[in-house]
Parts: sequence; C-alpha cells; structure tokens
Amino acid sequence: MTSDSTKTANSMWGGRFAMAPDAIMEEINASIGFDQRLAAQDIRGSMAHAAMLGSAGILTQPDVDAISQGLDEIQAEIEAGTFPFSRALEDIHMNIEARLREKIGDVAGRLHTARSRNDQVATDFKLWVRDRLDDVDTALAGLIGAFLDQAERGADAVMPGFTHLQTAQPVTWGHHMMAYVEMFARDRSRFADARVRMNESPLGAAALAGTGFPIDREMTAKALGFDRPAANSLDAVSDRDFAIEFLSAASICATHLSRLSEELVIWSSAQFNFVRLSDKFTTGSSIMPQKRNPDAAELCRAKVGRIMGSMVSLLTVMKGLPLAYSKDMQEDKEPVFDAADSLGLALSAMTGMVRDMEPNRERLHAAAGHGFSTATDLADWLVRELNMPFRDAHHVTGSLVKMAEDKGVALEALSLEDMRSVEPSITAAVFDVLSVESSTRSRTSYGGTAPERVREQAARWRSEI
Ligand code: ARG
Repeated sequence: MTSDSTKTANSMWGGRFAMAPDAIMEEINASIGFDQRLAAQDIRGSMAHAAMLGSAGILTQPDVDAISQGLDEIQAEIEAGTFPFSRALEDIHMNIEARLREKIGDVAGRLHTARSRNDQVATDFKLWVRDRLDDVDTALAGLIGAFLDQAERGADAVMPGFTHLQTAQPVTWGHHMMAYVEMFARDRSRFADARVRMNESPLGAAALAGTGFPIDREMTAKALGFDRPAANSLDAVSDRDFAIEFLSAASICATHLSRLSEELVIWSSAQFNFVRLSDKFTTGSSIMPQKRNPDAAELCRAKVGRIMGSMVSLLTVMKGLPLAYSKDMQEDKEPVFDAADSLGLALSAMTGMVRDMEPNRERLHAAAGHGFSTATDLADWLVRELNMPFRDAHHVTGSLVKMAEDKGVALEALSLEDMRSVEPSITAAVFDVLSVESSTRSRTSYGGTAPERVREQAARWRSEI
C-alpha cells in the first residue's frame, strides 16, 4: 500500500480544502487496511447502481458501459492482487473510484450520482455479512452431519450422563451427540432469522435523506439479491443491527463450540479416556513423549473470547450514536471480520474433530455403571412395582446406596437379603432394572435417551438437513 501523502487537498472533495490532511489524520481516518475485504461487494454494488442509473435515464448507455467495463478490469486486478491500494485514498470506495478514473477518465465521476459513501458502505457491508451467513449455514450443516454420523453409529452405546459433572444416570452416546445437533440446529435457525431480517437494501438512501434523482431502488435491491429496499433512508445508513445480530448469533454458536470443546478436552484426558481424538487434530509435546494434546479443541474453546468481544465492541460503538451516519461506524468492520474468520475456522476444526473422534465403548460402558448411576431406576421400580410414593422410594434407595457404598460394591451387587433388610417387599425382579442397558432402554419418553428414541431423532434431522 502506498502512503503517498499528497501535499495537495483530496481530489474527491478538494473543492473546499486548502491543505492535505495531517499524517496522523490520514492514519486514523483510513480504513483501506481492512475494508479492502469489501472490494468484491463494492464492485457488485457499483455495477447495480450504474445499471440502474442507465435504465432511469440518469446516465447515458455509453457511460454505463464504460463504467461497467472499468469495474470489470478493477475486479480482475483485485483478484490478481495487482490493484494499487492507497492509504491516501482512505477507503475501498474511494480507492476503486480513483482507479476507475485512471482507467476511463472523468466519466468515472458520474458513478457517484444519487449515491453517497454512507449508503454505499452499508450496502457493501450487508452483502459481505450476508455471504458469511451463507458460509456459516453450510459449515453448520456439515457439523450437524458429523454429529448425526456419530449418533447413528453409537445410538445404543452406553455412557455416563452427568449433572454437576457428577455421575447422574446412564445415557447413550447417540443421545449425547444429538444434544449437540439440537444446539447447532438452533444456531442455524438464528443465523437464518438474521438473514431474513437484514435482507433490505440501503442503496439509494444516499447520504441520509434520499435523493432528488429519479432512481429505482427496487431495481438495485433486486439486482443485489435483497428482498426490498430499506424503507427509511435515515435508518438505512445508520443501521448496523445486521452486523450485531450476526455477532450475537456467532457468540451463541461459539459458546456451544466452547462447551463441546470442554467436553472433548475432558473426555480425551487419560483419566477419563472416553474418546480418542484423531492425530489430525492433536499435537505432541516437545518434551513429554507420551502426550497427545487436544490443541484444536482448546483453541475452539478459546475463540468464543474474541467472538463475544467483537459483539461487545460493536454494541459499544453503536450505543450512543445519533442518527444518521457517524464515522464511529467505520469501526464496525474489524470486529465482524475477526469474528467471522474465527467462527469459520472453529467450525471447520470442530467438524473434523467430531467426524474423526472414536468413542471408547468399553470404557464408556464401565464408567456408566460407576457412582450408583441406576439408583433412580431402583427408586422408579419401587414406585411402579410396590406403589410407593416417590419420596419414600427416594429414601429407601438412599439407604441402599449407603449400604452398597459401605460394602464397597455396586447397587446390583447387593444381595436380595441385603435389600429386604431395608425394604421387605423388594423382590428379585428389581435386578432387571439395575443394569445400565436396561436403564437407558427404559427411558423411552419423548426426547429420552433410549436407543429407539435417538434413532428416531437422528432420522428426523437427517431428513431436515
Ligand atoms: N470508510 C467509511 C466507513 O467505513 C465509509 C463511509 C464514509 N462516509 C462518510 N460520510 N465519511 O464507514
């Protein structure tokens, strides 16, 4: 990037300026260092605007053709990496317009008729965010697919279910995988909702008040894939809700990724040994040869920090701004770019980890039986078979758990005699409900952990994605 601090006033508005900006002014004012990422969207927007100006009779067809051809060439330069970005030209909009002037001469100056950088940047940024919403949707569908594969393969594999990270009740691996399907499917629908709401075109709002030229905002909206033009020009140039909604949905999604990462970190530890993460997503240690560190999971766990930080950053920028545009809003882009990059990377890494991880079925099964995990099944049996009130059943079961604990054995290892010493009406049939398989198989309520329910849910989501 050249910093040709031209000693003359800015060519775009030099009319009323005698002096060039101070070097520090140029530095704080310039956004080209980051908003060059909007180049493709800026060109799309300008193409649509120029075509509309032509069809409305505001520009002649030869002028429109010259502008379009110039913009095509600029697009090619940007793709080839040969475009001469200049900081003195401040931002992507003026860089492209100045280059267009170099290519086609003064006709380039007609492109900005009935338009301002205020509606231009709002349009470009919306198009960019909309593209990312589509990318995130695809990435989430891939991640959900990886979870469905895991759920179908392990629909009946038994594992411990936790509350407070203490053994609670046995669940199935498939059920646990499907919990994440629900979470990431909600994320998808949040991004989709945001897309519907944001899809109104700011283009033609001009600086803030609209324009006296007979423009056709429906035409540019349609050309750019928007559902309609934004209905209030003040709102159109000052609205950044679409970026904030993207960051909110991204923050919630990143929170899900972080919780999942935490489970993978715990599960892949030697102490738990519930899953093996693939070599592709782990690293070794330069000093401890035995180590397989879950770095990718740890980084996915951490990304939520910058993504949520980006949301707070943009909300803070916007919170006190009067209508309509203020230059503060130039600070909207970097947080969104950073969050979108971080989320995209985390989703890809997580999809790879989930796809390749191998549950350790023996270990999960053994762990599922620890900690008297079928105590609730015993209490439920007392309710069902002996017609005991649940609170009494809870008490009896508590005494039996205490007895088993004192003897250092599992619940199902107590003898019938032991059980009857606490509750004389217990029969041998109770042992049928004390295994982890019978426990999970019995939980057939809608949304429950029984393998048949898990398979139904997996099939439902399969048909939906
Ligand atoms: N680079 C500016 C931004 O990102 C473009 C809009 C400038 N508008 C203005 N009135 N100075 O916000």
